[in-house]
Amino acid sequence: MSETTNKGFTPRIFSGIQPSGGLTLGNYLGALKRFAALQGDQAETIYCIVDLHAITVWQEPAILKARIREAAAAFMASGVDPAQSILFNQSQVSAHAELAWLFNTVARVGWMYRMTQFKDKAGKNSENASLGLLAYPALMAADILAYQATAVPVGEDQKQHLELTRDIAAKFNHDYGVNHFPITEPLIEGVATRVMSLRDGSKKMSKSDPSDASRINLTDDADTIAQKIRKARTDADPLPGSTDGLKDRPEARNLVNIYAALSDQTPDQVLARFEGQGFGAFKPALAEVAVEALSPITKRMSEYMNDPAEIDRILGDGSMRAAAVATPILEQTKDIMGLLRSR
Ligand code: TYM
Repeated sequence: MSETTNKGFTPRIFSGIQPSGGLTLGNYLGALKRFAALQGDQAETIYCIVDLHAITVWQEPAILKARIREAAAAFMASGVDPAQSILFNQSQVSAHAELAWLFNTVARVGWMYRMTQFKDKAGKNSENASLGLLAYPALMAADILAYQATAVPVGEDQKQHLELTRDIAAKFNHDYGVNHFPITEPLIEGVATRVMSLRDGSKKMSKSDPSDASRINLTDDADTIAQKIRKARTDADPLPGSTDGLKDRPEARNLVNIYAALSDQTPDQVLARFEGQGFGAFKPALAEVAVEALSPITKRMSEYMNDPAEIDRILGDGSMRAAAVATPILEQTKDIMGLLRSR
């Protein structure tokens, strides 16, 4: 954490996940597993299911609630403890939407058009995208800065959004002559910051990929996981003795990184064990490690999902605790901007 930029701010970690469909091994290794590991350190940890972000593309109302609960179950099944962290869904804390509006007046339109996620999601017909999809990063900045969060653990794909969050904080501080918002540090660490598709080593593993074989879902059973790994695309060469030998082998590198992340080893440690072996030997070993790591999570997730009322209670409680942190920061922000508050 940068001491020079964030002096005077309480160390606070914030991150979020969209409840827009099943979560993947990428979400687990790039985010959830690390969220759990960061608990109990020096910093407060605040984790959010960003349902207001999810609705920037169409979500069926009848299933959105279930997806929000499923995301909450995934957080807890991955080790996020609602007693140690604040766990809540975004739409229950109005400070997010309010601060996002204030940031809409700070951020520039050109910054939004440059975001690669907007370009990818809006596609060719960007005139027809929701205004919310364009303004998405201002809401993300509001999520983080409503808590004056100093660090944000994410996967590699969120880097550009975090840079924009820093730009908004810096412009706000500069324009109003204050040191109100920290310049948040991205925590993009470890070997699984960009887990790739099992079918194409040049594409990110994603819940929106049309091919279910391209990803491992946190709800997949042991047989499905083993089958997807068996069918994963690879090359014909044996594994090298060190990561230097994986340079031009994206599929092989991805599987080695997944093995390393799941078993808390470095890729070099994994290669030391499998040097000279082909994928006929490596894939069953990877499947075993994956099933061993993911099966307990899948099981715990379904246990949580059997008690939706308890999930709702946890999210309600987390929302109140989150609001208690965010509301005073939002009020200070309004004061700084010259908005009148008389109640
Ligand atoms: P989302 O919901 O797409 O993904 C949630 C988290 O999972 C990470 N991730 C991956 N990591 C490694 N490999 C992959 N293949 C992979 N796929 C996803 C993402 O990097 C992310 O950390 N805009 C955010 C949600 C958000 C947010 C925030 C995050 C809203 N407000 C505030 C942090 C702070 C998003 O769409 O993530």
